[in-house]
Amino acid sequence: MSENGKQAAAANDREQFVGFFPQIVKDLTEDELHQEEVADAVARLKEVVEYNAFGQDNNLGVIVLTAFRVLAGPDQGDQESVLRALAVGWCGQLFQAFLLLSDDIMDHSLTRNGHPCWYKKEGIGMDAVNDAFLLEACIYRLLKRYCRDQPYYVNLLELFLQAEYCIELGQALDLITAPPSQVDLNRFTEQRYKAIVKYKTSLYSLYLPVAAAMYMAGIDSEEEHAHARAILMEIGEFFQIQDDFLDCFGDPETETGTDIQTNKCSWLVVQCLKRASAEQRRLLEENYGQNDLDKVARVKKLYEDLGLKAVFKDYKESSYQHVSGLITQHAVNLPPQTFLGLVQKVYKRQK
Ligand code: IPE
Ligand code: MN
Ligand code: MN
Repeated sequence: MSENGKQAAAANDREQFVGFFPQIVKDLTEDELHQEEVADAVARLKEVVEYNAFGQDNNLGVIVLTAFRVLAGPDQGDQESVLRALAVGWCGQLFQAFLLLSDDIMDHSLTRNGHPCWYKKEGIGMDAVNDAFLLEACIYRLLKRYCRDQPYYVNLLELFLQAEYCIELGQALDLITAPPSQVDLNRFTEQRYKAIVKYKTSLYSLYLPVAAAMYMAGIDSEEEHAHARAILMEIGEFFQIQDDFLDCFGDPETETGTDIQTNKCSWLVVQCLKRASAEQRRLLEENYGQNDLDKVARVKKLYEDLGLKAVFKDYKESSYQHVSGLITQHAVNLPPQTFLGLVQKVYKRQK
């Protein structure tokens, strides 16, 4: 396909995916809305889904659809198969919404995608904990509604359940390593960083949507999935490192980072420690992990002084090269375009 053709197809997937959202909301609410005793709760669920599952770019869900189109056999181009891919894509969005809604509470974040975090909205507060569970339940309700008669139903269920477990382990490591106001720089090792990122992000952030599409297309051998994972985990690791970088150096208009004040084992603090003099380490010790904007500014200044922006730029370049090599090596039976569009999306992201 030509470059223009590809762009048109990608825009088309996005449009179709977004256009399916009202149907998803209906699927999740229409029956119960008419049952009077729970109608209020279902009205709440509707609000939660509309605020949280519809993302800024909806990338995760769109990836399911795009990968499904690339991988599906000629007998899977029918309307029903595409509707199922759309629904599973929205399961991905619900999954992400469930995790991010909880993550924002635990990280004391204020904004997500330029809007207030759900728990920060007037009258919501800690009731948001239950809203996160509702989003989680919606994944499995949708899967059942659209896929329960499909041969890949159990594979999809296990995929989402296994992803939850790994990410929750990763989140636990992330939180344990960042106890509020107990700064211990010795915790922030490269080894710990890699473990956190592997579990909370790399294993599933990109593998989940692609693997879902693979199962739907009937590709279920462990060998094929291992190949896909090898590539997607590397992109996923870059994705988190970029997220850590943008938490500090991203556009302050859309995101207010909290990694420094919440004592996070961020890629930046690990890189900083690798390069800091004894005096700079002391400065970090005195200013990290505290809810004080002057102290945060001092840490940022230290990162700049140590040239961490350039370190990130170099890392990005080498990661990109590495991923390109992995695609050549591992995309043996899977078409490389399954991965190439993804690489473009992730590596060009600015905020
Ligand atoms: C990733 O952690 C979130 C999940 C694994 C769900 P972060 O806490 O670093 O993510 P952001 O920066 O808040 O999105
Ligand atoms: Mn967070
Ligand atoms: Mn977090």
